[in-house]
Amino acid sequence: MSPHLVLLLLPVIVFDTGQCQFACSFQNVLKTLNLSRAPSLRPVKDWRSTSIVYLDLTLYTIVDLDMNKQTAVIFIWFYMSWIDEFISWNPDVFCGLKKMFVSSDYFWTPDLYIYEMIESDDNSPNIPYYRISYNGKIVNAMPVRIVVSCKLNVFTFPFDNQTCTLSFGSYVYTVSDIVMLPKSNSSVVNKNTWDVFTSKGDWVLQAVTVQEKSFVTEGEEYNQVIYNIYISRTPMIYILNLIIPACFLVFLDIVSMFIQSYSERLGFKITIVLGFSVLLLILNDMLPSSDNTPMLGTIFCCICMAMMVLSILGSITTLYMMEQSNTSAILPLWIKKAVLTYLARILCFKKAIRAELVTLVTIDNEPESVKKVVTSEEKNRKEKKHFEKGTYLQEVKLLKKLLSQILKIRDDLNFAKEEREAKSDWLIVAQIVDRLVLVLYLFTVSLIFTIMICVWILW
Ligand SMILES: *[C@@H]1O[C@H](CO)[C@@H](O)[C@H](O)[C@H]1NC(C)=O
Repeated sequence: MSPHLVLLLLPVIVFDTGQCQFACSFQNVLKTLNLSRAPSLRPVKDWRSTSIVYLDLTLYTIVDLDMNKQTAVIFIWFYMSWIDEFISWNPDVFCGLKKMFVSSDYFWTPDLYIYEMIESDDNSPNIPYYRISYNGKIVNAMPVRIVVSCKLNVFTFPFDNQTCTLSFGSYVYTVSDIVMLPKSNSSVVNKNTWDVFTSKGDWVLQAVTVQEKSFVTEGEEYNQVIYNIYISRTPMIYILNLIIPACFLVFLDIVSMFIQSYSERLGFKITIVLGFSVLLLILNDMLPSSDNTPMLGTIFCCICMAMMVLSILGSITTLYMMEQSNTSAILPLWIKKAVLTYLARILCFKKAIRAELVTLVTIDNEPESVKKVVTSEEKNRKEKKHFEKGTYLQEVKLLKKLLSQILKIRDDLNFAKEEREAKSDWLIVAQIVDRLVLVLYLFTVSLIFTIMICVWILW
């Protein structure tokens, strides 16, 4: 007989005494324990003693985070252990058997309840076995898929961090019956989770913490083990698909203010607004429509859209004024006063001020003074005419005729000049309005950008 064969046969030889061979089977242990199906009472020998239930959790993945319903689908590996005082056996009698797996039907189970759960876990894998030990310790380890409500704050979307809370506790038993305690502290839970966590979708795990808490309801004290799951969104897809295109469109819209042909500019701007509204549609699909609206949707997009519409209105106004200048209509005085004096000064529109001064001078002083001079000259001549006689009469008549012709030409020239000035007034006002819209646009957009970036960084 080879030594190997002896080694293989050794257990058979050692336990080949009828009693012990029989005691090595699981059935024998079960028979000794004398278990009944589905016990309903807490397994303690003295009802005044408290059962301590240890919980542990490892977050495996976040399956889904529904922004609109404010729910999270979470997959966890769950562990729960407690002592059943009626279970005990001597391992020496049963061939050293210290633990075994038995159908969960035979044991009392703490009524674990997850307070945030909103759907029963029909989709969880069903593992119907408990691990029992000779000293009465029962371990229920199972993977659980749970749907929990999760208060989501999306104000800083897409740079938001979320916290989901899982509160485990007994629903009926008070602390005098069952106390739930975390098996591992936060650092261990965190480490375990980091080892197995798989990132699904656009969420990154930050940390998992655990704490124990008790609370009093209607004079009864209950206790809970609370797990906080901290996650943050990976913003890259939103930056690429949303923020950068929006910034480009806004930038294009601002640059388009420098297109000199106003009608072409109008068409260009309307195209940009169309592009922006397509972007808004995409954004609407992506954005969570919770009660606290994200800043990106409300402030940024709305104000950018408003500024685009405002600049289109500005372009239309400018275009209208250009057309008015062609029809040689007179600029209303209040517009002239408001725009040429105040707005031009505020916007540092030097060209306009100079032009305005010139027009004021010409309109106010020149024609009247010239007319006065002319009329006085005429009077002098008339007076002289009385004194002079005969020979020069013919020439005087000719000169008079000449004078009247010159005056007429002067009047015509004056009229043409006024017309030209009115036209240039319209043009200047158009330019000032255009400048106003541009300044307003630039100011508002840079303000929003600053606010957004500050909030995203500081929040
Ligand atoms: C957490 O538990 C581990 C192991 O039980 C221990 O080494 C560690 O010091 C604990 N950490 C804290 C913060 O208590």
